[in-house]
Amino acid sequence: MIIGQRRKLRTTTKPQVDIDAMRHAGRLASRCLQELLEAVKPGISTQDLDDMQMAFAEQHKVIPAPLNYKGFPKSICTSVNEVICHGIPSPHEILRDGDIICIDVTLIVDGFYADNAATTYVGEVDPAGQRLVKTTLECLKRGIEVVSPQARLGDIGHAIQSHAEGRGLSVVREFVGHGIGRAFHEPPQVQHYGEPGRGQRLHAGMTFTIEPMINEGGWRSRVLDDGWTAVTADGKRSAQFEHTVLVTAGGVEILTVQNDEGRWEPPGRASV
Ligand code: MF3
Ligand code: CO
Ligand code: CO
Repeated sequence: MIIGQRRKLRTTTKPQVDIDAMRHAGRLASRCLQELLEAVKPGISTQDLDDMQMAFAEQHKVIPAPLNYKGFPKSICTSVNEVICHGIPSPHEILRDGDIICIDVTLIVDGFYADNAATTYVGEVDPAGQRLVKTTLECLKRGIEVVSPQARLGDIGHAIQSHAEGRGLSVVREFVGHGIGRAFHEPPQVQHYGEPGRGQRLHAGMTFTIEPMINEGGWRSRVLDDGWTAVTADGKRSAQFEHTVLVTAGGVEILTVQNDEGRWEPPGRASV
C-alpha cells in the first residue's frame, strides 16, 4: 500500500477464530498465486493471468480484493520489469522471454483478507535479473525471520534494507507492508527500511504483510497517468515478494502457505 500519514490508530491483535479464518484465507491465496505463477510463459498476456484469477475466484467462491478497490479495474496486480507494484493487467501487455513479473494476489475469504505476491521469470532471465529476484526473496525471508513478540517494526525494516543495500540494490520507500484482517489495509505500516530497536513493538496475535520492493537502480518511483502503475524513476527493474504473517508467542507463522509442512517461501522459480 502507499505510505501515508502517521495515524494514531492502534494495531489490534486477533482472537483465535479470526486467526483460523486468516489461515484458511492465506492458504487459498497461496494456491491461487501458485496457479498463476505456473501459467507464466512467453506469449501470454497479463490479462490472461487476470482471467485465471477470476476463474479461481468463481470456482472457490472467493472475492478478488483488488477489483474495484479504490477504483482499481482488475482482480490482480501484474508488475513487469520496471513496474514496482500496482501494474494493471492488459490484453495488450504480452510477456516476453527475459521479462520478470510480480503477481500480487489478494483474496477475501469469509470476510478475511490474505495478501500474497511473488516475482517469477518469463523464460530465460539474465543473471542480473535473477540476482535481483533472488535477493528480493532473501529480503522477505530475512524480514520474516526477525518477527517475534520481542521485536519492533524497525527490526524488520533494518533486516531487509541491510541485505538489499549490501548487494548494491535499493529499497522502495513509498510503498509499505500493512496490517491486514477484516480490512485490506490496517495499521501498522510496515516499512522495508529502518533502524533496529525502533518503531512499534510486535505482539502475538498481530497479522500484517511484509512485501519488500527492491530495485536494481535507485529507490525513487513515480506513478503513471493511469493513477496506479508505480514504476522506477530511472527505468531499471524492480522485484517484489509478499507474505501475510501472524506474530506468535514463539515467533512468526506465515499464513500465505499451502500446507503445514513449514514451507515458508512463495512459489516460483526463485527459491533460495
Ligand atoms: N496487494 C497490494 C498490497 O500488497 C495492494 C493492491 S491494491 C490494488 O498491498 F488496488 F492495486 F489492487
Ligand atoms: Co499487501
Ligand atoms: Co499484495
